[in-house]
Amino acid sequence: TGTHYIHPSILNADFMSIGTELDKISTADSVHVDVMDNHFVPNLTFGPSMVEQIVERSSIPIDAHLMIEDADREAPAFAEAGASSVTFHLEATRAPVKLARDLRKKNAQVGVALRPATAVEPILDIIGEFDMLLIMTVEPGFGGQSFLETMLPKIRRARKAISESNLEVSIQVDGGVSRETIERCAEAGANVFVAGSAIYRARNAAEEISALRELASA
Ligand code: DX5
Ligand code: ZN
Repeated sequence: TGTHYIHPSILNADFMSIGTELDKISTADSVHVDVMDNHFVPNLTFGPSMVEQIVERSSIPIDAHLMIEDADREAPAFAEAGASSVTFHLEATRAPVKLARDLRKKNAQVGVALRPATAVEPILDIIGEFDMLLIMTVEPGFGGQSFLETMLPKIRRARKAISESNLEVSIQVDGGVSRETIERCAEAGANVFVAGSAIYRARNAAEEISALRELASA
């Protein structure tokens, strides 16, 4: 069933102590950095210079999730900032294939993200252009929301189509992922798991990361 990756989201970390917050998750596979512009979602977080500083401070790769308008124009700066992977929303781009190719030229892996109400079928024809498909399992904008069970069939349909095309595209789930929901996501075909509040509200982040990893690969 392949490898399962845990990407803690720092959205609910303590921003005043971001360095030590990053140290807590050094056993994870990547740091998930949620970039929000207060337009695509009603919340505001980091820009490219913050991503650059996180890249310098982190011992693990950066997975940037861009919840911003006009990805065609704004996304390349995040690859230039050193993010290992850049994921933009399909709803915020006019030329997803061109953007994916531009980002790859800047040495980033590329993900395409879908809000819960966006159908997965239209992207499947061009899914080979991407390294990862992010299926949002909450409405993007905030941490700590509850997992949308209705996204499980969407994950399943995407995984089926990807394997039928003999492609090796990762499926990432983001939103409400916890010990209670991670097994169902893995069973449906997800292999990259973002968890924010589950990890940052746990007493021991490293323990939570290994518990989640074990449940995902069970
Ligand atoms: C929400 C963000 C998520 C968020 C997940 O828009 O994309 O990455 O941090 O937080 P939890 O795991 O608490 O749902
Ligand atoms: Zn995210």
